[in-house]
Amino acid sequence: MPSASAGRTSDVLIIGGGVIGLVTAWRAAGRGLRVAVADPAPGGGAARVAAGMLAAVTELHHGEEPLLELNLASAARYPDFAAELEDAAGSGVGFRACGTLAVALDADDRAQLREVHALHQRCGLRSQWLTGRECRRLEPMLAPGVRGGLRVDGDHQVDPRRLAAALLTACERAGVTFHRERVRELTVTGDRATGAVLADGTALSAARTVLAAGSHSGELPGLPPGIAPPVRPVKGEVLRLHMPPVPEGAGGGAFLSRTVRAVVRGSAVYLVPRADGELVVGATSCEQGWDTTVTAGGVYQLLRDAHELVPGITELPLRECLAGLRPGSPDNAPLLGPTALPGLQLATGHHRNGVLLTPLTGEVLAESLVTGEVPAIARPFSPLRFPSVVPV
Ligand code: GLY
Repeated sequence: MPSASAGRTSDVLIIGGGVIGLVTAWRAAGRGLRVAVADPAPGGGAARVAAGMLAAVTELHHGEEPLLELNLASAARYPDFAAELEDAAGSGVGFRACGTLAVALDADDRAQLREVHALHQRCGLRSQWLTGRECRRLEPMLAPGVRGGLRVDGDHQVDPRRLAAALLTACERAGVTFHRERVRELTVTGDRATGAVLADGTALSAARTVLAAGSHSGELPGLPPGIAPPVRPVKGEVLRLHMPPVPEGAGGGAFLSRTVRAVVRGSAVYLVPRADGELVVGATSCEQGWDTTVTAGGVYQLLRDAHELVPGITELPLRECLAGLRPGSPDNAPLLGPTALPGLQLATGHHRNGVLLTPLTGEVLAESLVTGEVPAIARPFSPLRFPSVVPV
């Protein structure tokens, strides 16, 4: 007979079952650790809303160059990671090596995009300047007014919902235990994190605990003063439309074949076409706490801006409008690895790059959990870089 405490003690307890918590669990289980995940709805979280762009190059922002190496390293892992996960789960993740086209709609946008191109060149990134006509030759549904663009053949996409579902199955097959319950508080015994207590009172103990609760990571009760990660919710609204199938033998191309993006009136808009006909249009970005209301203004902004890029989208059926919360950090980069509280590691704060950084995060956290060593590429992203997480 299994004892009453079976499954309540593990080598690693992961708080949060979004893609970051799940990939950490899968990779740690693959390294021989007994792993448990606590989350009322594993496989949910921000990935349910995210578009799944793997945009290491086209989402590079001035001042975020330190993050570039991490993002590129994770992007490079995607083809093999997707194949390995699909094999482990027996289901697809929708990885498409489709590339991205960033376009400019007017002279100001074009000047800004030229700056972006110069930044790419300074950073040794591959992107190619195209005229408006060349852009439309690649994507005939683009507005006639498009003034130029950057072709980035290395920025691909994955379907985050299928990614999360596959990770969940892969974890189950790897023997990860799931506690489908909210975590009430972190347990600290002496000067160590030793697990957590669930909302139903169940006590879970673990040699190491990983906090991977996305934008909620800083809110976990029981975190000692100075240990709470400085993450905040950054709301993003996203729409899902559906593209018409390409008629067989029609000779014409798909509605859109690659991710198309632009900055319109200062706001980023992107259109991510999936192989199954889904067209994801995102995303607003605003900071107003835990609100996940989809507003008329948000939908209007996305449709207006997307329509300026691709006028034909107004003909498409609109299937979903959702809002999610990105886990923002003070420098827009993740917090990976040990904290100042022994026994507690972080995998949070991925902001716009959670889906992109999923493969690398799993690898880094598993290595840190097994050997105690954080791989060199992730050391600049130690939680200890923020004074707020050093004990007071
Ligand atoms: N990475 C896309 C977004 O955060 O909107």
